Amino acid sequence: MRLVSEDKPSHLEDVISLRRYLHRHPELSEQEHNTSRVVQERLEEYGIPFSAGYAGTGVLASIEGGKPGRTVALRAEMDALPIREENDHDFVSENEGVMHACGHDAHTAMLVGAGRLLNEVKDRLPGRVLLVFQPAEENSPRGGSLEMMKEGVFEGREPDAIFAQHVWPDLPVGKVGVREGAITGSSDRFKVVIEGRAGHASKPHKGTDAIVVANQVINSLQSIVSRDVDPLRSAVLTVGRISGGTRYNAIAEKVELEGTVRTFSPKTKARVKDRFYAIVNGVSASMEAGAYIEYHDGYPATLNTPEWAARVRKTAQALLGEDSVVEVEPSLGGEDFGRFLQRYPGAYFRLGTAEPRTGEKKRLHDARFDVDESALAPGTELMAQLAVDALEDLSRRPA
Ligand code: NI
Repeated sequence: MRLVSEDKPSHLEDVISLRRYLHRHPELSEQEHNTSRVVQERLEEYGIPFSAGYAGTGVLASIEGGKPGRTVALRAEMDALPIREENDHDFVSENEGVMHACGHDAHTAMLVGAGRLLNEVKDRLPGRVLLVFQPAEENSPRGGSLEMMKEGVFEGREPDAIFAQHVWPDLPVGKVGVREGAITGSSDRFKVVIEGRAGHASKPHKGTDAIVVANQVINSLQSIVSRDVDPLRSAVLTVGRISGGTRYNAIAEKVELEGTVRTFSPKTKARVKDRFYAIVNGVSASMEAGAYIEYHDGYPATLNTPEWAARVRKTAQALLGEDSVVEVEPSLGGEDFGRFLQRYPGAYFRLGTAEPRTGEKKRLHDARFDVDESALAPGTELMAQLAVDALEDLSRRPA
């Protein structure tokens, strides 16, 4: 079934006005109270049933199709970032120091719009469509997805496939980026405290120099990516911060290191993490220093199910043209949607939002980030059509 809106301009106006409203009133992770309320108001206005309060401000809307079938979920995030907006359009943030600099305002507005389109044709839908509005995507490693699932958001209505999109300034409006397998990486975070023994700089043998130990630890950590990881796989281990010591003529008692580990495959991640512990503990122990490790598992890699990535490709081609789909490289940025994909098959794709003629890029998480609003129509229609096509794919499967 090809979705054709009866009143496309009015739908689009609603999506744009909602996006601008949300942009003007951004809220930080776990504080999306007003956003959640506005989403609920719109759903009510369109006659879409929902329940709310998952992981605090999360909302789940459910569109029951008129024909029996499976369940497809569509997801958007609602939170903004602690960034002071530097744009000068007439809907800049009114919440000082908070900004929708990752396009979640657009994601939420497009999902509401897609829900409206789907609800109008619900009698003809072979199955159920869930709209998932999640909080706290920017709050890694906590996030909002895990909490929503723990609170039973999908109880009695587990999705057979789940999809999400992200605005993408590296692609022009009208293009969609997708790939099979990993599309974003896992991002872990660590802190290490190396504890030596203080002493006078002139008597190193009486102390344990935490700076020399840290130096050995950092150098040895470099061998993980170069010697322990399969050269055909990707991994990054970065020590981004180091501090220690008190003055020029004292042996440093303590050094603190902080950094991050980025990988695509769970196997590579496990290997890097194992070697990280072994090297930090082993090198420190061999030099008679103590080591205390805090390792935070961040979002897992977002792993697209091949058949659902192919569905995104086909639907986008039918809707936006044969050459609209770009096979993109994965990025090592983190994404909470990876946790939904650990439980359910599905796909995550990128929606081109760069100005189509100039191709001007507005970087994500930047104070001047913006999306070209002509991307909102294809983004809204693509999400809705994807749900229809996925339900139809599923209805052809044996029960
Ligand atoms: Ni984002």
